[in-house]
Amino acid sequence: MKVLVTGGAGYIGSHTVVALREAGYEPIIVDDFRNSEKKVLEGIESLVGQVTCYELDCSRPVLEEVFRREKNIHAAIHFAAFKAVAESQEKPLDYYENNILSTITLLRCLLKYQVPYIVFSSSATVYGEPDTLPVTEESPRKPARSVYGRTKQVCEDIILDTLKSGAALRAILLRYFNPIGAHPSAKIGELPRGIPNNLVPFVTQTAAGWQKELVIFGRDYNTPDGTPIRDYIHVMDLAEAHVAALRYLERGGDKNIMNLGTGKGNSVLEIVKTFEEVCGVKLNYRFGERRPGDVEKIWADATLAEKELGFKAKRTLAEALLDAWKWQKTLTLNQAT
Ligand code: UFG
Repeated sequence: MKVLVTGGAGYIGSHTVVALREAGYEPIIVDDFRNSEKKVLEGIESLVGQVTCYELDCSRPVLEEVFRREKNIHAAIHFAAFKAVAESQEKPLDYYENNILSTITLLRCLLKYQVPYIVFSSSATVYGEPDTLPVTEESPRKPARSVYGRTKQVCEDIILDTLKSGAALRAILLRYFNPIGAHPSAKIGELPRGIPNNLVPFVTQTAAGWQKELVIFGRDYNTPDGTPIRDYIHVMDLAEAHVAALRYLERGGDKNIMNLGTGKGNSVLEIVKTFEEVCGVKLNYRFGERRPGDVEKIWADATLAEKELGFKAKRTLAEALLDAWKWQKTLTLNQAT
C-alpha cells in the first residue's frame, strides 16, 4: 500500500519512512530538499532498500503529477513544512505560503484522487503556555506566539473544516511534543542547517566541538531548577506512532486529534545532566537570558494515544540522548573524511 510522505527526507519524515517500510507499506517520498539533504535517501535505503522519491515542492500544482503517475495511493502523511520559530517571524509570507499552500494542494489531490486518509504533523505549540498540566487534546489552543505556530493552527483548521464539509476523507492531526534522538543505527538523524535552534542538536554539537558553548536560555522560570520543562520523545517512537495512526484510520478510528509525547516533563538542566552522564561527556554550558516566546512548562497527557492507537512511547530519555550522540559522532566522522 502506497503512502505518500511529504517532507519524507526531513527529520521525522525520514524515520517514519523507515517505520512504514518495516510495517509493510510502500512509502513514496515527496521532498524538494530545501531543508533536507539528498544523502538522507542513502541512509534510508541502507536501512530498508530502495524507496521512490519525487523531488518537488508540494505547495505547487505539480504535486498532482505524483498522484497521476503513482495511482492507488492509499494515504498521505504530511510533514513538509518550514519549522524554525525565529525564522517564521522574519519570513511570515514564506511560512504562510509554504505551510498552508502545501496543505491545501495536498488536500485537493487527496479529494480528487479519492485517497481516503491523511496524517498531519501538528505541534504542541498550538497549546501555547497551558493553564493546566499535563495538556490533553481538549486543552484549549492558545493564540500562537509565532507565525510558525499560527501556520500549524490554520492547517489544523483547514483539515478539520474539510472533514466537516463531508469530504470522503479521514484525518488525524498528531500534536508532537519535542522529538529528539536518531535511528539507533546512526544511518539517519537530525540534520539542522547552520546553527541549530533546538536544544538537543545544540547539546550534541557543543559536545562535539562544533559549537563553543551551550547557552541555557533562562534559569528564573517557575520550575524546580528554574529551567523550562518539555516532553522529549524519541523520534523512533514518534515514527512508529505514525504507523499506529494510519492503522487507526484504516480501522475506522474517529478521533481526529492526538498528542504524541511521553507524558513526562524534563527540564533543560535535566537534559544537560542526563546527556553528560549517559554519554560520558562534559558539556561547556552557561546560563543566559530567556529566549523570547519560550513557554515555561509543557508536557503531554499521552493517554488518548495509548487508548486509541495502542501507542506508548517506549524508549527512555537516556536512550534518546545516546542515539543523538551516536548520530552526532557519525556526522563528525563523515565531516572529517
Ligand atoms: N534551549 C536552550 N538553549 C538552546 C536551545 C534551546 O536553553 O540553545 C532551551 C529552550 O529555551 C527551551 C528548551 O531548550 O526551553 C527546548 O527548546 P527547543 O528549541 O528544543 O524546543 P521548543 O520547545 O522551544 O520548540 C518546540 C519545537 C518547535 C515548536 C515549539 C513550540 O521544536 O517546533 O516547541 O513551543 F514551535
